[in-house]
Amino acid sequence: MIHTRYLPADRPDTAAIAADIIKNGGLVAIPTETVYGLGANGLDEAAVAKIFEAKGRPQDNPLILHICGPEQIELFCHHIPQRAYDLAEAFWPGPLTMVLPAKERVPRRTTGGLDTVAVRCPDHALARQIIRLAGVPIAAPSANISGKPSTTTARHVLQDHDGKIDAVVDGGPCRVGVESTIVDLTEERPRLLRPGGIGPEELIAVLGDLVVDRAVTGELDPAQVVKAPGMKYRHYAPQEPVVIVSGSREKAAAYIRRHFQPGDRVLCFEEELPLYRDCAPLSYGREADVNTLSAGLFAALRELDDPTVSQVYARCPTGGGVAYAVQNRLKKAAAFHIIDAEEEP
Ligand code: TXA
Ligand code: MG
Repeated sequence: MIHTRYLPADRPDTAAIAADIIKNGGLVAIPTETVYGLGANGLDEAAVAKIFEAKGRPQDNPLILHICGPEQIELFCHHIPQRAYDLAEAFWPGPLTMVLPAKERVPRRTTGGLDTVAVRCPDHALARQIIRLAGVPIAAPSANISGKPSTTTARHVLQDHDGKIDAVVDGGPCRVGVESTIVDLTEERPRLLRPGGIGPEELIAVLGDLVVDRAVTGELDPAQVVKAPGMKYRHYAPQEPVVIVSGSREKAAAYIRRHFQPGDRVLCFEEELPLYRDCAPLSYGREADVNTLSAGLFAALRELDDPTVSQVYARCPTGGGVAYAVQNRLKKAAAFHIIDAEEEP
């Protein structure tokens, strides 16, 4: 066990202390606009190894390098297409990560052995100040233990890592609440690897083109879902099974109320709470304002990660923009288990 320092945002030397820890090869959880990241010097193999150990993360799962702005892309990437700068101009600082060919100086431990590296400039002033003061790119995955719902508050970070990391910087709850959108720019056509805070429509408006990777739409291939072990897709998930119930408010409520057993919980929109009065409902935000859903999703999934809960029935928003990312995270949490209440008798 080590002592994990708690560094509040209003302490004047917070950024300097965090940057010093990073420079010295330590681990600091930092706030970003999406989720908290577990940061270390992305150019220091030994420091990066500590991230994998603290998270229990598979070694071949690459990390994102957090940088201060578009001018730093060329420090770590080569063969940078113009569209990378177009995206940075449109969305940085912000929840967009780009995958580009990696320069030699980026350790392969950081890239999970790949010749490409993911870069992003977070829209959080304190995070950028820490990167600037550290003078190195900060490699940071989401600060959850691998497989668990991501961390959107400093308290979540301490739940997972108190006594294992050097410090946590408390920058308040994350504004976006789901991780960044990831676009791979290393092929001829730009490819969406993970939906996030920037919607696919917004990307297409800048790029004029976008391929959606199969990893995003894995649920569309029923043969694969049946063949693959459920655990392969489970991520962001509480310990008990999660089932998404789609369809109209009324049909979904009828289905859930018919199947609900004591010990189950319902994860729903605030507007639906009255429909589930006897079904232990938990709201994660308002359906009418999808930003409240993205901001509240992971905190709610963490609250439901409780051994006394036997099953969760979840309601999922429809539509594009950040709703597309909320759908993606919920489907992964549910291991793509979706029941269409409109088709149930
Ligand atoms: O919003 C975010 O992106 C947050 C905050 C902390 O910045 N970070 C985050 O990191 O979500 P993480 O490690 O939880 O997710 C990064 C994802 C992983 O799925 C990883 O496989 C993928 O990015 N990734 C990283 N480098 C890649 C690369 N070179 N090629 C393809 N995928 C990559
Ligand atoms: Mg993650």
